[in-house]
Amino acid sequence: MVSTGRVGCRRRPAGSLTVAGAVGVALAAGGCTGDSSVVSPKGPAASSVAGLWWPMLVAATAVFAFVTGMLLLAAARGRRRTEEQAKGAAAWGEPFIVFAGVVVSGIILVGFFVFSLGRMQALADAGHKTKLTVGVVGHDWWWEVRYPNGAVSANEIHIPAGVKVELALTTDDVIHSFWVPRLGPKTDMIPGQRNRLWLEASQPGTYRGQCAEFCGLQHANMLIRVVADTPADFDAWMAREAEPAAASDAAGQRVFETQTCAGCHTVRGAEAKGTIGPDLTHFGRRDTLGAGVRPRTPENLARWITDPQSLKPGTTMPPTTLAPADLNALVAYLDGLR
Ligand code: CUA
Repeated sequence: MVSTGRVGCRRRPAGSLTVAGAVGVALAAGGCTGDSSVVSPKGPAASSVAGLWWPMLVAATAVFAFVTGMLLLAAARGRRRTEEQAKGAAAWGEPFIVFAGVVVSGIILVGFFVFSLGRMQALADAGHKTKLTVGVVGHDWWWEVRYPNGAVSANEIHIPAGVKVELALTTDDVIHSFWVPRLGPKTDMIPGQRNRLWLEASQPGTYRGQCAEFCGLQHANMLIRVVADTPADFDAWMAREAEPAAASDAAGQRVFETQTCAGCHTVRGAEAKGTIGPDLTHFGRRDTLGAGVRPRTPENLARWITDPQSLKPGTTMPPTTLAPADLNALVAYLDGLR
């Protein structure tokens, strides 16, 4: 049986690679873990993609089984060694090859092309009917998120559940690709271009995503979390996200403003207007740091500040050397940015 719920990445012993195993491998390739699996859609756009994927898998499996069967049959019958044998065997062969190889293949390919055009049209059109547009900018290697009320955040996108949300996708540097498999299709972020994508989460929850276009050393650690709140919770969240930073550790704020931090990061309400790194105004409300590389704990945050390369090699965040008291104050300050 094929489980569509959770698709693990466990290694299987080579001997047990049955048909079910092969299907499992295909599912794993489509989205390795259950909480980011294309075959476990949690919204209409993703359901539309899954509804295209399953018939394609069935057809491709049938074609693969048929071709493999013909190969085995050919191998079993062996070579035709004489002129007479070759003439006798070829009587039905040529029409069969033309029919199966050209006519049947053509019907299958054209059929799926037309079928997928319909899905693509539906996925493109719905974007015009959305009430909320969120801007997402790809950076090496994190995501900037901009809300219509002026709130700026990073790496975690909040959306209202049960509502179509349009994402306006751009990039600050190279090509990235935005992909949250359980909510919608992947869409590239291309320099100089604004691509659109709509998502909808049927239920509140957290949905994992991932950059899907190789963009450099930390491509694999360019993770995204979409948090679907109830519409009321979302409105409250977005309003609060647009406010200046909460009062936090005063000593830590001084460290933030006088050390290198403020050169790259913005904290609205503090003397920090850097635009190179993520906006940290409400950093204490996020679950992860470094675009998802670690949970946002004080220990991980201290390590991220002092030695970011040890958590995310290649990150443009420089290491900062601080006295222990200053480091503790800085961590408390960032943690308090709720
Ligand atoms: Cu951004 Cu891969």
